[in-house]
Amino acid sequence: MSKNHHRMLLLAALWLGCVAAAAAFQLASRDTKDWIETLERPERIKSQKIDEVLAVLNLKPGMVVADLGAGSGIFARPMAKAVGPKGKVYAVDIDKGLLDYINERAKKENVNNIVTVLGEYSDPKIPKKDVDLAFFNDVLHHIENRATYLKALARYIKPTGQVVIVEMDKNDPNTPHKDKPELLLSRQQIDQWMADAGFKPVKENTELFPGTKHFVFYGRK
Ligand SMILES: C[S@@+](CC[C@H](N)C(=O)[O-])C[C@H]1O[C@@H](n2cnc3c(N)ncnc32)[C@H](O)[C@@H]1O
Repeated sequence: MSKNHHRMLLLAALWLGCVAAAAAFQLASRDTKDWIETLERPERIKSQKIDEVLAVLNLKPGMVVADLGAGSGIFARPMAKAVGPKGKVYAVDIDKGLLDYINERAKKENVNNIVTVLGEYSDPKIPKKDVDLAFFNDVLHHIENRATYLKALARYIKPTGQVVIVEMDKNDPNTPHKDKPELLLSRQQIDQWMADAGFKPVKENTELFPGTKHFVFYGRK
């Protein structure tokens, strides 16, 4: 192969790499400050039923939890308390500013078992493969490559570990994103992506968010 051919191939590979990197993005994104204000609004926090969701998750001291798309940490903080000093919570997000906010608050509130993780758009990049429970609240619809992300996530979960997905029900006539079809996920789609990642539904809570959200536990098939 001539030197010129070699150079052209290299350039083509570089260009393809850039296109692939640019192809992944966040749907309905906001800047950090806007996310924090939106996520921490008292009426939103109330609507998320954090205590009730945590009661259903039934976290035990010593567990390793991954909060995917942790945002400002409204779930990561109480989760860290529930798993205690022998457990840990990976707070994963693609927004470094949100991770800084989580770290600042954890320091102020003397919470020492939250590990913030800067994930990639299609891979959470958790530093160890030790996750007992991976949790998504109000996040999956923001991830562009859901199938790829869930397959990547599976690699970090222990053989006995579970994935819990809390996600808006696209059949709810008042669902917040009803005018944005790209943000509406069906239960069938989620089950299929999870099946492709090696998981099946093992439990479901229908009482907390009837008709508005899915709240499903997935375990290995
Ligand atoms: C609506 S917020 C939910 C935050 C938090 N789970 C809550 O319920 O308060 C969505 C979050 O997902 C994050 N996000 C979007 N795409 C992501 C991705 N590919 N990987 C990890 N986090 C992502 C956003 O940065 C944002 O913090």
